[in-house]
Amino acid sequence: MSNEPGLRGKSAVVTGASSGIGRAIAERLGAEGVFVVLTGREQLALEESAARITAAGGKAAVIVADIRDADSVQKLVDSAVNETGQLDIFVNNAGVSFLGTVAEGDVEDWRLMLETNVLALLVGCRAAVRAMRAKGNHGNIVNISSVAALNPDSGVYGATKHAVNVITNTLRQELLEDPIQVTSIMPGLVATNIGRNVDPAILEGVVAMSGIEAEVVPGERLPDDVLEGAQEALTDFMIKPDDVADAVYFAVTRPGRVHIPEIVIRPNKDFDF
Ligand SMILES: NC(=O)c1ccc[n+]([C@@H]2O[C@H](COP(=O)([O-])OP(=O)(O)OC[C@H]3O[C@@H](n4cnc5c(N)ncnc54)[C@H](OP(=O)(O)O)[C@@H]3O)[C@@H](O)[C@H]2O)c1
Repeated sequence: MSNEPGLRGKSAVVTGASSGIGRAIAERLGAEGVFVVLTGREQLALEESAARITAAGGKAAVIVADIRDADSVQKLVDSAVNETGQLDIFVNNAGVSFLGTVAEGDVEDWRLMLETNVLALLVGCRAAVRAMRAKGNHGNIVNISSVAALNPDSGVYGATKHAVNVITNTLRQELLEDPIQVTSIMPGLVATNIGRNVDPAILEGVVAMSGIEAEVVPGERLPDDVLEGAQEALTDFMIKPDDVADAVYFAVTRPGRVHIPEIVIRPNKDFDF
């Protein structure tokens, strides 16, 4: 029999739950009986995530928000607390990636990455800690970093993930006297929409690999079946969103005496990026 503390009746916020890894995390938590607050900017995609959770018997709320707006992050926490009385899990997952060099990169791309991947994550951590401290409950904060944080020259995107790890480690030290655990999860390559801003020629390659016909529109999402098809074609070189969801599940189901500071998940045949 398992000694894992169950998740039924708990609450969670998952940012970036309209797509990819965040959607898989939200589905996994929902399937375990967690009330999940889903956020992202695309309403229809968020509703699709919520529909998957409710179809599997779970409970979810959708809040369309840009997490770069600090006030909207507080509303996510409030929604969880109003439903179950406390916030148990906060997953800082939303993120964006733009390629480009330091020498010639675009300031707006840098701003989007820094504000989404770093600043919004800081605000999410603070809002989660305040809510958990207010009730004195055991809680988990999970920050989705990247293996790019293990690489010293992984570009501006990698720099944001180095920042995620430093913030996570710092917060863990700040919370030694609190029953709140903080985990950084560093996935390797996953076929998701994180690549939506790369050169369209690369995305056309992804579509071709999937064997499914689809139009590539720069900056837009690819259909789910295209991403799943590409994943299957490169199964040794990519992990799946569900693999990351498994890691989150592991981190948030340890007994209080066990703290999982970080988890690295790489595909079988690693892609260094
Ligand atoms: N895919 C990989 O290979 C990989 C590897 C390592 C780490 N990661 C990390 O995993 C996390 C999830 O990425 P993913 O791969 O699942 O990519 P994805 O499919 O593009 O999902 C990103 C999510 O973030 C949300 N988001 C982006 N900007 C937002 C904003 N300003 N406000 C609210 N939501 C926002 C998006 O929602 P909307 O579009 O609806 O706003 C979407 O739900 C990211 O932190 C990424 O850096 C990914």
